[in-house]
Amino acid sequence: MKQSKEQMCLFILSGEHETLPQAELCAILEAEGFPYKVIGHQNQVLLLEVDPKGAKIATERSGLVNHASVVFFESPADEVQILEMVKNCDFVGWIKSKDRFGVKITRVQREPTVFDVDELASKVGSQIWQALNGQVTVDLTKPDVLFLGVINGNQFFLGPYLASRDRAGFYQRRSPLRPFFVPSAIHPKFARVMVNLSRVKRGDILLDPFCGTGGLLLEAADIGCVPLGLDIDVSILTGCQQNLKHYKVPFNGALADARTIPLRSDGLNAIATDPPYGRSSSTKGSEVVELIQKSLDVLTNHLKKGGYLCLALPEKYFEKEIIPTDSFTIVETHTMRIHRSLNRLIVVLQRQ
Ligand SMILES: C[S@@+](CC[C@H](N)C(=O)[O-])C[C@H]1O[C@@H](n2cnc3c(N)ncnc32)[C@H](O)[C@@H]1O
Repeated sequence: MKQSKEQMCLFILSGEHETLPQAELCAILEAEGFPYKVIGHQNQVLLLEVDPKGAKIATERSGLVNHASVVFFESPADEVQILEMVKNCDFVGWIKSKDRFGVKITRVQREPTVFDVDELASKVGSQIWQALNGQVTVDLTKPDVLFLGVINGNQFFLGPYLASRDRAGFYQRRSPLRPFFVPSAIHPKFARVMVNLSRVKRGDILLDPFCGTGGLLLEAADIGCVPLGLDIDVSILTGCQQNLKHYKVPFNGALADARTIPLRSDGLNAIATDPPYGRSSSTKGSEVVELIQKSLDVLTNHLKKGGYLCLALPEKYFEKEIIPTDSFTIVETHTMRIHRSLNRLIVVLQRQ
């Protein structure tokens, strides 16, 4: 376990899913070895006591955590009270004399507010400048320290900005921009979430035994893991190879049936996969329940005790007791509505 200097940190979570952003963040902190304590959660704002270094690493690694900052103070969203709090703030350790700083204020909820956020940012900026006896300068374009103010309903938080997720990277890896594209490919942000839920550590292998076009493999590589893919379909595996090459990721893959995996047993810490269920991706004539059950049985032999497996499957199959609960503990499940007649479940299992 790393040495930690825990502080209150604020995370603005994506509103795209109710439970996945927080689950993803906590899984990354676990994988990266940063202890944390949940302090509160309201709307898309999550407060944790955590080492800011861990908060930064986790946000940069995440698919669904938009931003992170340290919290210097929380106050009612009232200008007089905010400016009074800034006056009494301790900036030591975050800003040095001659540093350039900026202030940005953002609203989490889109509802109308009495604030003009730019005007408030400039008032907070001059209060900070006064609190530091004018020994710092304001620079909004390239600040050494950016102070982020967050308005969440009637709460206000202020502290140094730490990180944002890599929006541009996800955009560049969208499936239509890859050389090989099939409609069943999962969106990069959600592929990233699945990889993160497997608690894979940087430098470790991430196996996807139904790798398809390589969506999960690309995300695993992007966070510094060694991606390993299997697929039963030679044309899809060739396409996956092209996709990885396009993003300069070395291809480690094999043509294989996930029910008879050609790997040394008991060697992996993390698996993330999105098996076919016969609609947009083929099961090659197999029955879905049989295919998932058999592959989970085989994967049991390849995952180390304590290792994690993140699986996506239609909710109706989960209800059929598809998970071998004598070998796996169900850690968490998250439901995603795909369309009117399909709910997909993201399930995280831990090898007993
Ligand atoms: C839902 S797709 C995976 C999509 C993938 N996550 C992506 O980003 O493209 C499922 C894949 O499983 C493959 N498949 C089907 N049966 C298989 C089996 N028995 N063993 C391994 N792969 C199989 C299919 O060829 C298909 O590419």
